[in-house]
Amino acid sequence: RENPSSLILLFGATGDLAKRKLYPSLYNLFRKGNLSNRFAVVGVARRLKDDGEFRNWVRDSITTFGEKADNLEEFISHFYYQSHDVNDSESYKQLKELVDRLDHTYQLEGNRIFYLAMSPEFFGTVAEHLREDGLTNTNGFKRLVIEKPFGHDLASAIELNKRIRSAFKEDEVYRIDHYLGKEMVQNIEVIRFANAIFEPLWNNRYISNIQVTSSETLGVEERARYYDKSGAIRDMVQNHMLQIVSLLAMEPPIRLTTDEIRSEKVKVLRALRPVEGEAVHDYFVRGQYGEGIMNGSKVPAYRDEPNVPKDSNTETFVAGKFLIDNFRWAGVPFYIRTGKRMATKSTNIIVQFKDIPMNLYYKNGSTLNPNLLVIHVQPDEGITLHLNVKKTGEVLGTTPVKLNFSTKSIDGINTPEAYEKLLYDCLRGDATNFTHWDEVALSWRFVDNISEVWTNEQADFPNYAAGSMGPKAAEELLEKDGFFWWPVNF
Ligand code: BG6
Repeated sequence: RENPSSLILLFGATGDLAKRKLYPSLYNLFRKGNLSNRFAVVGVARRLKDDGEFRNWVRDSITTFGEKADNLEEFISHFYYQSHDVNDSESYKQLKELVDRLDHTYQLEGNRIFYLAMSPEFFGTVAEHLREDGLTNTNGFKRLVIEKPFGHDLASAIELNKRIRSAFKEDEVYRIDHYLGKEMVQNIEVIRFANAIFEPLWNNRYISNIQVTSSETLGVEERARYYDKSGAIRDMVQNHMLQIVSLLAMEPPIRLTTDEIRSEKVKVLRALRPVEGEAVHDYFVRGQYGEGIMNGSKVPAYRDEPNVPKDSNTETFVAGKFLIDNFRWAGVPFYIRTGKRMATKSTNIIVQFKDIPMNLYYKNGSTLNPNLLVIHVQPDEGITLHLNVKKTGEVLGTTPVKLNFSTKSIDGINTPEAYEKLLYDCLRGDATNFTHWDEVALSWRFVDNISEVWTNEQADFPNYAAGSMGPKAAEELLEKDGFFWWPVNF
Protein backbone atom coordinates (compact mmCIF):
# COMPACT_ATOMS: atom_id res chain seq x y z
CA ARG A 1 0.00 0.00 0.00
CA GLU A 2 1.38 3.39 -0.89
CA ASN A 3 -0.34 5.41 1.82
CA PRO A 4 -0.58 3.34 4.96
CA SER A 5 -2.42 4.61 7.98
CA SER A 6 -0.24 5.80 10.80
CA LEU A 7 -0.09 7.76 13.95
CA ILE A 8 2.67 10.33 13.96
CA LEU A 9 3.94 11.24 17.36
CA LEU A 10 5.97 14.39 17.00
CA PHE A 11 8.34 15.43 19.76
CA GLY A 12 9.40 19.05 19.39
CA ALA A 13 6.02 20.02 17.97
CA THR A 14 6.52 23.72 18.63
CA GLY A 15 10.08 23.84 17.34
CA ASP A 16 11.45 25.56 14.33
CA LEU A 17 11.84 22.46 12.18
CA ALA A 18 8.27 21.35 12.78
CA LYS A 19 6.98 24.79 11.94
CA ARG A 20 9.04 25.50 8.85
CA LYS A 21 9.29 22.07 7.32
CA LEU A 22 7.29 19.26 8.88
CA TYR A 23 3.75 20.66 8.93
CA PRO A 24 3.94 22.15 5.44
CA SER A 25 5.43 18.88 4.13
CA LEU A 26 2.81 16.70 5.78
CA TYR A 27 0.12 18.92 4.41
CA ASN A 28 1.57 18.63 0.92
CA LEU A 29 1.40 14.86 1.23
CA PHE A 30 -2.21 15.16 2.31
CA ARG A 31 -3.13 17.53 -0.54
CA LYS A 32 -1.59 15.18 -3.06
CA GLY A 33 -3.37 12.15 -1.66
CA ASN A 34 -0.14 10.56 -0.43
CA LEU A 35 -1.26 10.58 3.17
CA SER A 36 -4.10 8.26 3.99
CA ASN A 37 -7.15 9.78 5.63
CA ARG A 38 -6.46 7.38 8.44
CA PHE A 39 -3.76 9.37 10.16
CA ALA A 40 -3.41 11.40 13.31
CA VAL A 41 -0.63 13.61 14.56
CA VAL A 42 0.08 14.01 18.22
CA GLY A 43 2.25 17.02 18.91
CA VAL A 44 4.32 16.80 22.04
CA ALA A 45 6.14 19.71 23.64
CA ARG A 46 6.20 21.72 26.82
CA ARG A 47 4.92 25.03 25.58
CA LEU A 48 1.29 24.94 24.46
CA LYS A 49 -1.86 24.09 26.34
CA ASP A 50 -4.43 22.28 24.27
CA ASP A 51 -5.48 20.92 20.88
CA GLY A 52 -7.02 24.24 19.89
CA GLU A 53 -3.83 26.16 20.44
CA PHE A 54 -1.79 23.50 18.68
CA ARG A 55 -4.08 23.52 15.66
CA ASN A 56 -3.69 27.28 15.41
CA TRP A 57 0.04 26.80 15.51
CA VAL A 58 -0.07 24.24 12.71
CA ARG A 59 -2.42 26.35 10.60
CA ASP A 60 -0.16 29.32 11.05
CA SER A 61 2.91 27.35 10.04
CA ILE A 62 1.26 26.09 6.87
CA THR A 63 -0.07 29.47 5.81
CA THR A 64 3.34 31.03 6.48
CA PHE A 65 5.69 28.40 5.11
CA GLY A 66 3.58 26.15 2.91
CA GLU A 67 0.89 26.15 0.30
CA LYS A 68 -2.65 26.54 1.47
CA ALA A 69 -5.58 24.75 -0.14
CA ASP A 70 -9.26 24.05 0.51
CA ASN A 71 -8.86 21.01 2.70
CA LEU A 72 -6.59 22.66 5.25
CA GLU A 73 -9.19 22.55 8.04
CA GLU A 74 -9.89 18.89 7.40
CA PHE A 75 -6.16 18.19 7.65
CA ILE A 76 -5.81 20.15 10.86
CA SER A 77 -8.67 18.29 12.51
CA HIS A 78 -6.30 15.28 12.70
CA PHE A 79 -3.93 17.11 15.07
CA TYR A 80 -3.81 16.58 18.84
CA TYR A 81 -1.59 17.97 21.51
CA GLN A 82 -0.09 16.71 24.71
CA SER A 83 2.05 18.79 26.99
CA HIS A 84 4.95 16.63 27.99
CA ASP A 85 7.92 16.22 30.26
CA VAL A 86 10.50 13.97 28.58
CA ASN A 87 11.85 12.67 31.88
CA ASP A 88 8.56 11.78 33.48
CA SER A 89 7.07 8.31 33.07
CA GLU A 90 3.65 9.64 33.98
CA SER A 91 3.76 11.88 30.94
CA TYR A 92 4.39 8.90 28.67
CA LYS A 93 1.57 6.95 30.26
CA GLN A 94 -0.86 9.77 29.47
CA LEU A 95 0.55 9.87 26.00
CA LYS A 96 -0.06 6.17 25.60
CA GLU A 97 -3.71 6.59 26.57
CA LEU A 98 -4.15 9.29 23.96
CA VAL A 99 -2.33 7.27 21.34
CA ASP A 100 -4.39 4.14 22.03
CA ARG A 101 -7.57 6.16 21.80
CA LEU A 102 -6.60 7.77 18.49
CA ASP A 103 -5.46 4.42 17.17
CA HIS A 104 -8.98 3.20 17.68
CA THR A 105 -10.78 6.34 16.43
CA TYR A 106 -8.80 6.57 13.21
CA GLN A 107 -8.25 2.82 12.73
CA LEU A 108 -4.53 3.18 12.58
CA GLU A 109 -3.80 -0.53 12.92
CA GLY A 110 -1.20 0.18 15.58
CA ASN A 111 1.16 1.85 13.11
CA ARG A 112 3.35 4.41 14.81
CA ILE A 113 5.96 6.86 13.71
CA PHE A 114 7.88 8.56 16.50
CA TYR A 115 9.53 11.69 15.17
CA LEU A 116 12.16 13.31 17.38
CA ALA A 117 12.48 16.88 16.14
CA MET A 118 13.94 18.01 19.41
CA SER A 119 17.22 18.69 21.14
CA PRO A 120 19.49 15.65 20.66
CA GLU A 121 20.29 15.45 24.35
CA PHE A 122 16.83 13.86 24.80
CA PHE A 123 16.99 11.28 22.01
CA GLY A 124 18.17 8.42 24.21
CA THR A 125 15.85 9.24 27.08
CA VAL A 126 12.78 9.45 24.87
CA ALA A 127 13.57 6.20 23.05
CA GLU A 128 13.97 4.34 26.35
CA HIS A 129 10.78 5.77 27.80
CA LEU A 130 8.83 4.89 24.68
CA ARG A 131 9.73 1.27 25.31
CA GLU A 132 9.47 1.25 29.10
CA ASP A 133 6.11 2.99 29.13
CA GLY A 134 4.62 0.74 26.52
CA LEU A 135 4.33 3.06 23.52
CA THR A 136 6.42 0.82 21.28
CA ASN A 137 4.34 -2.16 22.22
CA THR A 138 2.09 -2.36 19.19
CA ASN A 139 0.85 -4.76 16.54
CA GLY A 140 1.52 -2.38 13.70
CA PHE A 141 4.82 -1.00 12.50
CA LYS A 142 6.88 1.24 14.71
CA ARG A 143 9.48 3.60 13.34
CA LEU A 144 11.75 6.12 14.95
CA VAL A 145 12.66 9.17 12.92
CA ILE A 146 15.58 10.96 14.40
CA GLU A 147 17.01 14.32 13.46
CA LYS A 148 20.67 15.13 13.46
CA PRO A 149 23.12 15.34 15.06
CA PHE A 150 23.49 11.66 15.79
CA GLY A 151 26.13 12.03 18.48
CA HIS A 152 28.96 14.48 18.73
CA ASP A 153 31.71 12.02 17.91
CA LEU A 154 32.03 8.27 17.50
CA ALA A 155 31.94 7.50 21.23
CA SER A 156 28.77 9.51 21.90
CA ALA A 157 27.15 8.14 18.75
CA ILE A 158 27.80 4.57 19.92
CA GLU A 159 26.32 5.42 23.30
CA LEU A 160 23.24 7.00 21.74
CA ASN A 161 22.80 4.13 19.34
CA LYS A 162 22.84 1.64 22.20
CA ARG A 163 20.02 3.46 23.94
CA ILE A 164 17.97 3.76 20.78
CA ARG A 165 18.52 0.16 19.83
CA SER A 166 17.21 -0.93 23.22
CA ALA A 167 13.79 0.15 21.92
CA PHE A 168 14.01 -0.08 18.12
CA LYS A 169 15.65 -2.45 15.66
CA GLU A 170 18.10 -0.99 13.15
CA ASP A 171 15.56 -1.24 10.34
CA GLU A 172 13.07 0.70 12.45
CA VAL A 173 15.44 3.64 12.87
CA TYR A 174 15.19 6.39 10.26
CA ARG A 175 18.13 8.74 10.76
CA ILE A 176 17.44 11.87 8.80
CA ASP A 177 20.00 13.40 6.51
CA HIS A 178 17.86 15.92 4.71
CA TYR A 179 20.36 16.17 1.84
CA LEU A 180 19.31 12.64 0.88
CA GLY A 181 15.84 14.02 0.29
CA LYS A 182 17.04 16.62 -2.19
CA GLU A 183 15.94 15.93 -5.73
CA MET A 184 19.36 16.29 -7.34
CA VAL A 185 21.14 14.30 -4.64
CA GLN A 186 18.73 11.48 -5.41
CA ASN A 187 19.46 12.10 -9.06
CA ILE A 188 23.17 11.27 -8.68
CA GLU A 189 22.40 7.57 -8.85
CA VAL A 190 20.03 7.95 -11.76
CA ILE A 191 22.45 10.06 -13.78
CA ARG A 192 25.15 7.47 -13.17
CA PHE A 193 23.18 4.25 -13.54
CA ALA A 194 20.49 5.09 -16.07
CA ASN A 195 22.83 6.42 -18.77
CA ALA A 196 25.34 4.57 -20.89
CA ILE A 197 27.67 7.52 -21.38
CA PHE A 198 28.88 8.31 -17.86
CA GLU A 199 29.59 5.05 -16.10
CA PRO A 200 32.35 3.87 -18.48
CA LEU A 201 34.17 7.14 -17.75
CA TRP A 202 33.35 7.24 -14.05
CA ASN A 203 36.77 6.24 -12.72
CA ASN A 204 40.39 7.26 -12.34
CA ARG A 205 41.17 6.76 -16.00
CA TYR A 206 38.92 9.60 -17.11
CA ILE A 207 38.08 11.72 -14.10
CA SER A 208 40.75 14.04 -12.76
CA ASN A 209 38.94 15.32 -9.68
CA ILE A 210 35.49 15.92 -8.22
CA GLN A 211 34.47 19.08 -6.37
CA VAL A 212 31.49 19.36 -4.06
CA THR A 213 30.59 22.80 -2.74
CA SER A 214 27.82 23.61 -0.32
CA SER A 215 28.01 27.28 0.52
CA GLU A 216 25.59 29.22 2.65
CA THR A 217 25.03 32.94 2.98
CA LEU A 218 23.43 32.70 6.40
CA GLY A 219 25.54 33.02 9.50
CA VAL A 220 25.08 31.03 12.66
CA GLU A 221 21.68 32.66 13.36
CA GLU A 222 20.29 31.70 16.77
CA ARG A 223 21.98 28.33 16.86
CA ALA A 224 25.31 29.28 18.42
CA ARG A 225 24.83 27.13 21.48
CA TYR A 226 24.72 24.04 19.30
CA TYR A 227 26.93 25.26 16.48
CA ASP A 228 29.83 26.51 18.53
CA LYS A 229 30.31 23.03 19.95
CA SER A 230 29.92 21.44 16.56
CA GLY A 231 31.48 23.54 13.80
CA ALA A 232 31.21 22.92 10.09
CA ILE A 233 33.00 19.57 10.14
CA ARG A 234 30.42 17.96 12.42
CA ASP A 235 27.49 20.02 11.20
CA MET A 236 27.93 19.49 7.45
CA VAL A 237 30.88 17.23 6.58
CA GLN A 238 30.20 14.21 8.80
CA ASN A 239 26.75 13.87 7.28
CA HIS A 240 25.73 15.78 4.15
CA MET A 241 29.10 16.06 2.42
CA LEU A 242 30.14 12.48 3.08
CA GLN A 243 26.75 11.25 1.91
CA ILE A 244 27.19 13.07 -1.39
CA VAL A 245 30.70 11.68 -1.78
CA SER A 246 29.42 8.14 -1.12
CA LEU A 247 26.74 8.47 -3.77
CA LEU A 248 29.24 9.80 -6.29
CA ALA A 249 31.81 7.12 -5.58
CA MET A 250 29.79 3.97 -4.89
CA GLU A 251 29.71 0.93 -7.15
CA PRO A 252 26.44 0.19 -8.95
CA PRO A 253 24.23 -1.71 -6.50
CA ILE A 254 23.01 -5.08 -7.77
CA ARG A 255 19.45 -3.86 -7.29
CA LEU A 256 17.76 -0.77 -5.96
CA THR A 257 16.92 -2.03 -2.52
CA THR A 258 17.72 -0.21 0.68
CA ASP A 259 20.24 -2.79 1.84
CA GLU A 260 22.05 -3.06 -1.47
CA ILE A 261 22.41 0.68 -1.92
CA ARG A 262 23.46 1.34 1.64
CA SER A 263 25.99 -1.44 1.58
CA GLU A 264 27.67 0.07 -1.50
CA LYS A 265 27.80 3.45 0.22
CA VAL A 266 29.31 1.88 3.30
CA LYS A 267 32.08 0.38 1.18
CA VAL A 268 33.06 3.86 0.02
CA LEU A 269 33.32 5.07 3.58
CA ARG A 270 35.42 2.04 4.42
CA ALA A 271 37.75 2.89 1.55
CA LEU A 272 38.21 6.52 2.63
CA ARG A 273 41.85 7.07 3.44
CA PRO A 274 42.02 8.18 7.09
CA VAL A 275 43.56 11.60 7.63
CA GLU A 276 45.29 11.88 10.97
CA GLY A 277 47.82 13.92 12.91
CA GLU A 278 50.01 16.23 10.85
CA ALA A 279 48.31 15.11 7.62
CA VAL A 280 45.17 16.96 8.70
CA HIS A 281 46.97 20.20 7.79
CA ASP A 282 47.68 18.93 4.28
CA TYR A 283 44.21 17.62 3.56
CA PHE A 284 41.87 19.95 5.43
CA VAL A 285 41.47 23.68 5.79
CA ARG A 286 39.30 25.37 8.37
CA GLY A 287 37.98 28.89 8.42
CA GLN A 288 35.90 31.21 10.52
CA TYR A 289 34.19 34.29 9.17
CA GLY A 290 35.12 37.77 10.17
CA GLU A 291 32.86 40.73 9.56
CA GLY A 292 32.02 41.64 6.01
CA ILE A 293 29.54 43.22 3.65
CA MET A 294 26.67 41.15 2.35
CA ASN A 295 23.91 42.55 0.16
CA GLY A 296 25.20 46.02 0.88
CA SER A 297 25.02 45.71 4.66
CA LYS A 298 27.68 45.07 7.20
CA VAL A 299 27.37 41.74 8.98
CA PRO A 300 29.20 40.82 12.20
CA ALA A 301 32.06 38.39 12.64
CA TYR A 302 31.22 34.93 13.96
CA ARG A 303 32.83 35.79 17.29
CA ASP A 304 30.48 38.76 17.62
CA GLU A 305 27.33 36.72 17.05
CA PRO A 306 25.05 36.16 20.06
CA ASN A 307 26.22 33.36 22.38
CA VAL A 308 29.53 32.85 20.61
CA PRO A 309 32.62 33.15 22.86
CA LYS A 310 34.93 35.98 21.82
CA ASP A 311 37.82 33.55 21.43
CA SER A 312 35.85 30.78 19.73
CA ASN A 313 38.04 28.25 17.96
CA THR A 314 35.08 26.82 16.03
CA GLU A 315 35.27 26.58 12.27
CA THR A 316 32.43 27.95 10.16
CA PHE A 317 34.12 26.77 6.96
CA VAL A 318 35.82 23.55 5.91
CA ALA A 319 37.56 22.58 2.71
CA GLY A 320 38.96 19.12 2.42
CA LYS A 321 40.39 16.48 0.17
CA PHE A 322 39.21 12.89 0.37
CA LEU A 323 41.03 10.01 -1.23
CA ILE A 324 39.22 6.76 -1.82
CA ASP A 325 41.55 3.81 -1.85
CA ASN A 326 39.96 1.40 -4.25
CA PHE A 327 40.48 0.36 -7.87
CA ARG A 328 38.01 2.82 -9.28
CA TRP A 329 39.17 5.93 -7.47
CA ALA A 330 42.85 5.50 -6.62
CA GLY A 331 44.52 8.87 -7.22
CA VAL A 332 41.35 10.92 -7.79
CA PRO A 333 40.85 13.66 -5.21
CA PHE A 334 37.34 14.44 -4.05
CA TYR A 335 37.41 18.03 -2.83
CA ILE A 336 34.65 19.37 -0.64
CA ARG A 337 34.01 22.79 0.82
CA THR A 338 31.23 24.14 2.90
CA GLY A 339 30.75 27.20 5.02
CA LYS A 340 28.55 29.88 6.45
CA ARG A 341 28.48 33.52 5.38
CA MET A 342 29.88 32.74 1.98
CA ALA A 343 29.20 34.71 -1.17
CA THR A 344 26.30 32.60 -2.44
CA LYS A 345 23.84 29.97 -1.30
CA SER A 346 24.62 27.09 -3.56
CA THR A 347 25.24 23.36 -3.55
CA ASN A 348 26.78 21.80 -6.57
CA ILE A 349 28.95 18.94 -7.73
CA ILE A 350 31.52 19.32 -10.46
CA VAL A 351 33.03 16.27 -12.07
CA GLN A 352 36.13 17.28 -13.97
CA PHE A 353 37.27 14.90 -16.69
CA LYS A 354 40.91 14.48 -17.63
CA ASP A 355 42.36 16.42 -20.51
CA ILE A 356 42.35 14.77 -23.91
CA PRO A 357 45.71 13.16 -24.84
CA MET A 358 46.73 16.01 -27.16
CA ASN A 359 45.27 19.27 -28.34
CA LEU A 360 45.04 19.39 -32.13
CA TYR A 361 43.71 22.92 -32.02
CA TYR A 362 46.50 24.65 -30.17
CA LYS A 363 47.89 26.31 -33.33
CA ASN A 364 44.93 28.62 -33.41
CA GLY A 365 45.58 29.49 -29.83
CA SER A 366 42.70 27.32 -28.65
CA THR A 367 43.24 25.99 -25.18
CA LEU A 368 40.63 23.36 -24.58
CA ASN A 369 38.58 23.41 -21.43
CA PRO A 370 38.27 20.10 -19.67
CA ASN A 371 34.88 18.46 -19.94
CA LEU A 372 32.85 19.05 -16.82
CA LEU A 373 29.66 17.50 -15.62
CA VAL A 374 27.98 19.87 -13.20
CA ILE A 375 25.15 18.66 -11.01
CA HIS A 376 23.28 21.66 -9.60
CA VAL A 377 21.68 20.65 -6.33
CA GLN A 378 20.39 24.02 -5.17
CA PRO A 379 19.03 26.64 -5.59
CA ASP A 380 18.77 25.65 -9.26
CA GLU A 381 18.25 21.98 -9.94
CA GLY A 382 19.72 20.54 -13.08
CA ILE A 383 22.76 19.32 -14.97
CA THR A 384 25.23 21.07 -17.20
CA LEU A 385 27.68 19.28 -19.46
CA HIS A 386 30.61 21.38 -20.63
CA LEU A 387 31.98 20.52 -24.06
CA ASN A 388 34.23 22.09 -26.69
CA VAL A 389 32.81 22.67 -30.17
CA LYS A 390 33.91 24.34 -33.36
CA LYS A 391 33.87 28.10 -33.38
CA THR A 392 31.31 28.86 -36.02
CA GLY A 393 32.85 30.18 -39.20
CA GLU A 394 36.44 29.39 -38.26
CA VAL A 395 38.53 26.55 -39.56
CA LEU A 396 40.26 25.34 -36.43
CA GLY A 397 39.00 27.51 -33.63
CA THR A 398 37.11 25.93 -30.76
CA THR A 399 34.79 27.35 -28.19
CA PRO A 400 33.39 25.98 -24.95
CA VAL A 401 29.63 25.35 -24.78
CA LYS A 402 27.25 24.09 -22.15
CA LEU A 403 24.46 21.58 -22.57
CA ASN A 404 21.93 22.50 -19.96
CA PHE A 405 19.12 20.67 -18.31
CA SER A 406 17.02 22.23 -15.60
CA THR A 407 14.43 20.15 -13.74
CA LYS A 408 12.03 23.08 -14.01
CA SER A 409 12.10 22.73 -17.77
CA ILE A 410 10.37 19.35 -17.68
CA ASP A 411 8.36 19.43 -14.52
CA GLY A 412 7.33 23.05 -14.74
CA ILE A 413 6.78 22.88 -11.00
CA ASN A 414 8.99 23.12 -8.00
CA THR A 415 10.23 19.73 -6.94
CA PRO A 416 8.89 18.59 -3.57
CA GLU A 417 10.78 19.65 -0.50
CA ALA A 418 13.27 17.16 0.88
CA TYR A 419 11.18 16.69 4.01
CA GLU A 420 8.08 15.86 2.06
CA LYS A 421 9.89 13.04 0.31
CA LEU A 422 11.54 11.74 3.44
CA LEU A 423 8.28 11.72 5.40
CA TYR A 424 6.65 9.85 2.57
CA ASP A 425 9.50 7.34 2.47
CA CYS A 426 9.11 6.76 6.17
CA LEU A 427 5.36 6.25 5.87
CA ARG A 428 6.00 3.69 3.14
CA GLY A 429 8.79 2.02 5.09
CA ASP A 430 11.56 2.84 2.64
CA ALA A 431 14.76 3.62 4.53
CA THR A 432 17.03 4.01 1.49
CA ASN A 433 17.38 7.76 1.90
CA PHE A 434 18.16 7.61 5.58
CA THR A 435 21.51 6.97 7.21
CA HIS A 436 22.39 3.47 8.35
CA TRP A 437 24.29 3.07 11.61
CA ASP A 438 27.37 1.77 9.76
CA GLU A 439 27.53 5.01 7.79
CA VAL A 440 27.21 7.06 10.96
CA ALA A 441 29.97 5.13 12.67
CA LEU A 442 32.40 5.22 9.76
CA SER A 443 31.88 8.90 9.08
CA TRP A 444 32.40 9.81 12.73
CA ARG A 445 35.54 7.75 12.82
CA PHE A 446 36.88 9.72 9.88
CA VAL A 447 35.84 13.10 11.25
CA ASP A 448 37.03 12.46 14.80
CA ASN A 449 40.65 12.38 13.63
CA ILE A 450 40.29 15.83 12.17
CA SER A 451 38.37 17.32 15.08
CA GLU A 452 40.96 16.01 17.47
CA VAL A 453 43.75 17.94 15.77
CA TRP A 454 41.66 21.07 15.39
CA THR A 455 40.44 21.10 18.96
CA ASN A 456 43.97 20.96 20.27
CA GLU A 457 45.34 23.81 18.17
CA GLN A 458 44.17 27.39 18.43
CA ALA A 459 43.45 28.60 14.91
CA ASP A 460 44.27 32.00 13.55
CA PHE A 461 40.66 33.14 13.24
CA PRO A 462 38.89 34.94 11.68
CA ASN A 463 40.45 34.13 8.33
CA TYR A 464 37.77 34.91 5.77
CA ALA A 465 35.46 37.84 5.33
CA ALA A 466 31.74 37.30 5.45
CA GLY A 467 30.55 37.37 1.85
CA SER A 468 33.69 35.75 0.40
CA MET A 469 34.27 32.18 -0.76
CA GLY A 470 36.38 31.21 2.25
CA PRO A 471 40.02 31.46 3.30
CA LYS A 472 42.89 31.64 0.86
CA ALA A 473 44.20 28.29 2.10
CA ALA A 474 41.13 26.64 0.55
CA GLU A 475 42.31 27.81 -2.88
CA GLU A 476 45.81 26.58 -2.17
CA LEU A 477 44.53 23.14 -1.24
CA LEU A 478 43.64 22.61 -4.91
CA GLU A 479 46.43 24.68 -6.38
CA LYS A 480 49.08 22.42 -4.94
CA ASP A 481 47.47 19.55 -6.88
CA GLY A 482 47.32 21.65 -10.05
CA PHE A 483 43.57 22.31 -9.84
CA PHE A 484 41.30 25.19 -8.84
CA TRP A 485 37.74 25.51 -7.63
CA TRP A 486 35.42 25.99 -10.54
CA PRO A 487 33.05 28.85 -9.89
CA VAL A 488 29.79 27.79 -8.30
CA ASN A 489 26.90 27.88 -10.77
CA PHE A 490 29.42 27.25 -13.54
C1 BG6 B 1 21.81 21.51 8.41
C2 BG6 B 1 22.85 22.23 9.22
O1 BG6 B 1 21.97 20.13 8.55
O2 BG6 B 1 21.93 21.87 7.05
C3 BG6 B 1 22.73 23.73 9.04
O3 BG6 B 1 22.70 21.91 10.59
C4 BG6 B 1 22.74 24.10 7.58
O4 BG6 B 1 23.77 24.42 9.72
C5 BG6 B 1 21.74 23.25 6.80
O5 BG6 B 1 22.40 25.45 7.47
C6 BG6 B 1 21.88 23.48 5.31
O6 BG6 B 1 20.81 22.87 4.67
P1 BG6 B 1 20.29 23.39 3.26
O7 BG6 B 1 19.19 22.45 2.90
O8 BG6 B 1 19.83 24.81 3.47
O9 BG6 B 1 21.46 23.32 2.35
